[in-house]
Formats: sequence, C-alpha cells, structure tokens
Amino acid sequence: MSYRILITEPIIGEVVDFLREHAEVVVGTRGSFDAEEVLIKAIGDFDAVISMLSTPMSRRVLEAGNRLRVVANYAVGYNNVDITAAKEFGIRVTNTPGALTEATADITWALILATIRRIPQSEAFLRQGKFDGWDPLGFLGYDLHGKTIGIIGMGRIGQAVARRAVGFGMKIIYHNRKPVSSELEQNLSATYVADYKDLVRECDVLSLNCPLTPENRHMIDSEMLQQMKRTSILINTGRGPLVDEAALAEALTSGWIAGAGLDVYEEEPIVHLALLKAPNAVLLPHIGSATYETRIRMGMMA
Ligand code: GLV
Ligand code: GLV
Repeated sequence: MSYRILITEPIIGEVVDFLREHAEVVVGTRGSFDAEEVLIKAIGDFDAVISMLSTPMSRRVLEAGNRLRVVANYAVGYNNVDITAAKEFGIRVTNTPGALTEATADITWALILATIRRIPQSEAFLRQGKFDGWDPLGFLGYDLHGKTIGIIGMGRIGQAVARRAVGFGMKIIYHNRKPVSSELEQNLSATYVADYKDLVRECDVLSLNCPLTPENRHMIDSEMLQQMKRTSILINTGRGPLVDEAALAEALTSGWIAGAGLDVYEEEPIVHLALLKAPNAVLLPHIGSATYETRIRMGMMA
C-alpha cells in the first residue's frame, strides 16, 4: 500500500522528488488550498499533509481527514494549525525549527540596515534620476554602533539576531518568558529585561522574534509605540499580530518612531494602506526563510 501525501503548494523540486520515491504525492497549485472548504473536500484522501502558513489546518479540516496521520507544517510557526484538535484526533503535527534560524536572522538584519539607513528610499531616488551628487543632508539615518538593540523572544532566531548584533558593536538587551542560561548571556553580552515594556522604552532598535500566542497579540500597541524613542526603529520578522498595525501606521506618520521594517503583517497578504503610504516603512513580502538552502532544509525536515 502506498501512502498519499498532499503538499498544498509547489515547493522546491528536490524535496518533491525525494518524497515521490516513497509515496504518492499531490502538489497543489499556488493558493489552491487556502480555502477551508476546498481542503475539507480533498483531505480525506491523504495520509499526510505538508501545509503552508497559508493553509488553514482548522478543526473542521482535521476532522475531515479521516486517514490523516501527520501534518508537517512547512514553517517554524504553526499558528495556522489547530493543535488542540490535532491532539484530539491523534494527528501528529510537526514544524521546522532550526532550519530557518540563520536565514530569518539575516533578513532581520537586512531590515534593520535598510530601515535605519533608508536603503530602499535612497535607491528609488537614484533610479528616478534624482541623484545630483553627494548631498551633505541627503538621506540621513542613524548609527547602529554603540546603540542598544532590544530583542523580544530569545529562542533560536532571537539568539542568531543577537550574535549578529555583537559584530555591529551594539548593546544587547532582551526579553523572554525566562532568561537564557548565564553562559549564553555572557557570550552575547546580553542583559535580561523582565518587563518587556522597560525594554521597549530603552532600545534604539526593537526586534520582535517571538512566536504569536493568545497572550502577546498587540503587545506593541499605541501606548508602547508612544513610549519608544523618537529616533528608534521597530523591526518585525515574527508575526504581524504582535503589532497593532493601525497604531504603527500612526506612529510612523506622526513621528513617534523613526521607522519600521516589516516582513509580516496582521492579515497577510493584506498590508495596511497607511503603511504602504508611510515613507519611513520598509515592507517585505514575508521572505524571512526565502533562500534555496533554507527552503530545501525546511522541506527535508518536513
Ligand atoms: C515563517 O514565518 C515561519 O514560521 O516559518
Ligand atoms: C526558531 O527557530 C526559534 O525558536 O526562534
């Protein structure tokens, strides 16, 4: 008997080829399984699913999977999977921790540099033919060296972001449910801040690297944004709902903070209109793990 596996969207070919040596594999076209109803109709035919963050692995979907044994989420986050329901139905759920740590830390730093030095804005200026020579007042940003980075979420990705911060000569403070080991704190010269609100007020670069939970939704809200330094930037490569997007748009327009670099949004793929219009926002289409090596690693792990 051959197992049947559904991959809800096309992923890197090597991974699909490998699976085809072991099972019957169906690969959905892009977006084809984003709708719960479509998934409910199809899922009964499969023993395993490789799901994307955009695949709604809800209670209703899992319930319809009468031969389903494994949901392998092609992501480190799994907020698209109803874990409680999966447990009830005896379906195993896996994710890809570790596989995308370095790539996501890289994109976090790409956003930090792009936001604080206004890279996309100045590049667009040149392409528009506006470059008229070295400008003593052109595209001023802020130094990173000697400044403080505040990292919320000191898991694998947060730690990888911190390691890079050492090279940039930054002071590192972090918040996490619990402090990391004192050995790790020493290696990174990182200082634990018990109340994340103190961290938010103190840092020049705020980086969100925690998972989304029911408790931390909108942890960065209007009140927090108003307490940040006016020269500071917010970087979110974690999950969109950690930030109140409407409040962030106001913060950027009103100058409460200097800029924001985002890879994730509250209601992907929708991006708040005011953010799209904010000149001091750098906006990426959720590409944190988007390297060939990382996506292969994620696929093989799944
Ligand atoms: C990406 O956001 C992931 O969770 O893998
Ligand atoms: C991701 O791999 C994390 O644990 O932060």
